Amino acid sequence: MAANEKRTGVAFAFDIDGVLLKGPKVLPGARETIKALQENNIPFIFLTNNGGATEEAHIKKLSNLLDLPLTVEQFIQSHSPFKALVPKYGDKTILALGGHGQQVRQLAHAYGFKNVLISSDIMAGCENLHPFPEMTRAHHEEHGCSPTAQGHAQALLTTPIAAILMWTSPRDWCLDLQLIRDLLLSEGGRIGTRSGKNGDGALPRHGFQQDGQPALFFSNPDVEWVTPYAFPRLAQGAFREALKAIWAHDTDGRAELQYTLYGKPSTTTYEYAEQALLDYHGSMSKEEEEEANSGKEIRTVYMIGDNPESDIQGANGFQSSRGLEWKSVLCETGVYVAGTEPRHKPTYQARNVREAVQLALREEG
Ligand code: G3P
Ligand code: MG
Repeated sequence: MAANEKRTGVAFAFDIDGVLLKGPKVLPGARETIKALQENNIPFIFLTNNGGATEEAHIKKLSNLLDLPLTVEQFIQSHSPFKALVPKYGDKTILALGGHGQQVRQLAHAYGFKNVLISSDIMAGCENLHPFPEMTRAHHEEHGCSPTAQGHAQALLTTPIAAILMWTSPRDWCLDLQLIRDLLLSEGGRIGTRSGKNGDGALPRHGFQQDGQPALFFSNPDVEWVTPYAFPRLAQGAFREALKAIWAHDTDGRAELQYTLYGKPSTTTYEYAEQALLDYHGSMSKEEEEEANSGKEIRTVYMIGDNPESDIQGANGFQSSRGLEWKSVLCETGVYVAGTEPRHKPTYQARNVREAVQLALREEG
């Protein structure tokens, strides 16, 4: 594509892990491709199921890795839609799971949740909660609010937990599974209680998850993701499947686990991403006036991804309420293995991100 050539009507949503990066390494062609889109004023966003830090921190990291200027308006991650939960849960107590210690509390605070517990707060003051604490005791003591301290988190431990938000991959599955199960069987989200006639949770008073237990939110459906290791690694979706199996056992199959799921391929995330893309395009047009696509509408969005079950399924199934058409391009640089039959067939297939963008621009003329 020639520099400063103007194109209209097309925009891109880039997956990150497995398309632009593999671990901390930039994949070949990624930088040049993004740079060319910038030079040609073609709007794009990043749409990742990654998380664990603020959008500002993540875009800064990506900008450093690609060595290109990027703005936070272009960055949508798995838990970005949690922002919409602040009006409902911002003043209530939430349990923030996933990620590393205090970082997830700081992240939840940055979003506007005022009363945030993390698993270490509960562990730090409860000797027997986790039957195998020897691997993690030092971590919880470092990150959790000490039982003798009069801190904010310490006071929250006696309040009902209104929501459990899983921000990114859980590190200690055993503890987090235990905590979620306890709270889903509790009386009104109070730690250390059990709903039910016998207080054993087996016969809940009003049916499972009907006694004021916390609402449960997950941010990333991916069962696996790509890292520098030879084979994909388990992600948050695998944890959710494990919890569902425990819940099926607990309820003897009588009640399905109730939860809300964000992240690709959920409609909420694609809705959120489309709005962010249009907002970003609007600000881009304003700034660049005649230079950019000012006044020209985005008609088609190409989702460039490596995971058929999140990137491709999501883009294929998304019905834009604003009349945009979403197409998908599956790259061979991540989760998807070249030569195999993808579970969700993309609109197009390409070897890497450079080819994917070239193909899309050719198609859109
Ligand atoms: O599921 C883990 C996450 O890191 C995947 O990120 O960019 O491939 O959506 P991404
Ligand atoms: Mg990916």
